[in-house]
Amino acid sequence: MIAIENLIVQFGGVRPIDCLTAQLSAPVSGLIGPNGAGKTTLLNVLSGFVRPIEGKVAVKGQALLDLSPLQRVRAGLRRSFQTEQVVEDLTVVGNLKAIADHVLPNNERAESVSAALDFVRLRAVAATMGSSLNLFQRRLVELGKCVVGTPKLILLDEPAAGLSNEESGVLRELILRIPGEYGAQVLVIDHDVDLIRAMCTETLVLDYGRMLALGPTDEVLASPDVRRAYLGEF
Ligand SMILES: Nc1ncnc2c1ncn2[C@@H]1O[C@H](COP(=O)(O)OP(=O)(O)OP(=O)(O)O)[C@@H](O)[C@H]1O
Ligand SMILES: [Mg+2]
Repeated sequence: MIAIENLIVQFGGVRPIDCLTAQLSAPVSGLIGPNGAGKTTLLNVLSGFVRPIEGKVAVKGQALLDLSPLQRVRAGLRRSFQTEQVVEDLTVVGNLKAIADHVLPNNERAESVSAALDFVRLRAVAATMGSSLNLFQRRLVELGKCVVGTPKLILLDEPAAGLSNEESGVLRELILRIPGEYGAQVLVIDHDVDLIRAMCTETLVLDYGRMLALGPTDEVLASPDVRRAYLGEF
């Protein structure tokens, strides 16, 4: 479970997260909201790239804010980025191994990388350099990095952006298998409401850094406030 309490992030005069209190406990939870709503900023707080001026965040009862980003990765936190961050001059295996090197003892790395490679079905391109991968393969490498070691919470920032419907369907099936196969909770940001509906039993809607709605995804998406603010309906 992710527990967020009175969280405030301030950049100059802007508060991308403004007194947010929310608890997310679904195996795959959704995070939606208009552009600039604070979604990526919330992921940055959880992963340690942004320090809030106030508030608390805990994952499965462990307080996060005093931990460095690397300590959080070692504690089981993983994330993918809105703009994928595959290392161009490493192979697919090299990209996965870069995470394993940080989180696992020497003798467990190869097996974990191999399992992640199979999970995201990239064995055929294991030795291909990052620079030669297409966008779908890059998105899969990002997901593969998230399942190396023992993930507890996986944060995915628009993992299906730019993918075809078919590719996004494959990604969705993989994401849905994560809680059962890895025991990790997943928090997914996406603008594709159909994808969120298909994956997430619970969804948090942010608007101007505040909670607009939180609850079962179908109920949240049917709420008039959400339809007005996010789906552009009046
Ligand atoms: N490092 C920063 N410095 C100043 N302002 C920032 C910074 N990062 C984000 N912001 C601002 O905070 C607000 C929230 O941005 P954020 O990237 O979290 O939105 P988002 O919900 O992820 O949007 P999108 O759907 O476009 O990805 C925006 O107004 C943005 O301009
Ligand atoms: Mg964003």
